[in-house]
Amino acid sequence: MNKFDYNLGVVGLGYVGLPLAVESANSKLSVLGFDTSSNRVEEINNGHSPIEDISDDELENALNSFFSTDDPTLLSKCHHIVISVPTPLTDYQPDLSYVEAAAKSVGENLVPNQIIILESTTYPGTTLEVLIPNLEKYSSLKAGSDFYVGYSPERIDPGNEEWKFKNTPKVISGINEESLNKIKSFYEQIVDEVVVVKGTKEAEMVKLLENTYRHVNIALINELAMLCKMLDIDIWEVVNAAKTKPFGFQSFKPGPGVGGHCIPVDPEYLSFKTRQIGKPVRFVELAQEINNSMPAYVVSRVNELLNSQDKILRNSKILILGVAYKKDISDTRESPSLDILELLIEKNAEVSFYDPFVKELTIAGQSINKESLSKNFHDYDMLLILTPHTEFSEIDFEILNNIVFDTTGSNFIKSTERI
Ligand SMILES: NC(=O)c1ccc[n+]([C@@H]2O[C@H](COP(=O)([O-])OP(=O)(O)OC[C@H]3O[C@@H](n4cnc5c(N)ncnc54)[C@H](O)[C@@H]3O)[C@@H](O)[C@H]2O)c1
Repeated sequence: MNKFDYNLGVVGLGYVGLPLAVESANSKLSVLGFDTSSNRVEEINNGHSPIEDISDDELENALNSFFSTDDPTLLSKCHHIVISVPTPLTDYQPDLSYVEAAAKSVGENLVPNQIIILESTTYPGTTLEVLIPNLEKYSSLKAGSDFYVGYSPERIDPGNEEWKFKNTPKVISGINEESLNKIKSFYEQIVDEVVVVKGTKEAEMVKLLENTYRHVNIALINELAMLCKMLDIDIWEVVNAAKTKPFGFQSFKPGPGVGGHCIPVDPEYLSFKTRQIGKPVRFVELAQEINNSMPAYVVSRVNELLNSQDKILRNSKILILGVAYKKDISDTRESPSLDILELLIEKNAEVSFYDPFVKELTIAGQSINKESLSKNFHDYDMLLILTPHTEFSEIDFEILNNIVFDTTGSNFIKSTERI
């Protein structure tokens, strides 16, 4: 049996990989981080966390048993290796190039008895059809006997103070019993509860079910919000009352669209897989249509609200409050705010933004003016709230005479226009 220098190697140190590395180091495992971005590696080794969920202090503490590198050869020194690299869409298609590149780095440095776990979100079949063939090709070792493989979906929810990596049940799987037993023993050291599923395809599908469920339900409430507006019904009053039902109902909020890496992207991975058997996921397609139409709906409401005060969109000054895709984080990936800004710019509105977490923003090659919270907002025709960052509660909206359009259902201002 080999002697490994590190209990764990984490490939890809982002929103998923870094919390795993830090939590594992806190659980007294020795951890090696591997990332192709040397800037990120340097930042992390210097104790600067690139993500909000891990503070610099937390990272600093973990560094006693966590070291990062951009040298893939060190992966041969890790007993377990978790791959958490991006799985984006490119030209609306699943892009597994990062998983393939990670599998190459791991495969070229694979040694017998290592345990490889994929955590990137992907379509069912990726572990068996993409990861293992690459690992075997680059290592000339056999999965299931020379080395062990499994899949475990990540459930990290950036910004969630209650459900963190450790207390969120972890779904795990292995390609055979030996792999599963080893993977189970590993995760039991770092999370409170593991949930075993029978195969890697089921584990891959769990993640897609969870996110498709959210996608579809958000689309339902977005559609109802648009219909309620036409019927002069207050959707927020309806949702808040419905959610008092203690059983059989889970509330979802309308909003300006869906963002982040998961909700807009994962259902596409599911559709991609089912199209291979000639079947669309009809719920997903409808949900995509509705959620993707929300930015244009928001802009049409902006236009109406300006018109109601004898103003027009062209040359109106609009301050966007919040461009990240969710509250209190900096991630703008797939954020509907970006689409809304683009549409407003196309219609020649003068847009600025304020987001405490986002330093700068470029839309369609144009750098967007960043406002400060201390600024007097009276110059603006409209304040458009797209992300309910906690810091916005410091703004005294009630004394402002601008139009305030809140697409988020926050309680920053009582008398305002809502989605
Ligand atoms: N962000 C979330 O909330 C979340 C939640 C659950 C699951 N996921 C999934 O987890 C995976 C990772 O997402 P993320 O948000 O952590 O991504 P991220 O962009 O925050 O981080 C990915 C990291 O991987 C690095 N990387 C890219 N290619 C690499 C390679 N070949 N080898 C080593 N490092 C490489 C990048 O430099 C980056 O630091 C994705 O599949 C995503 O869908 C994300």
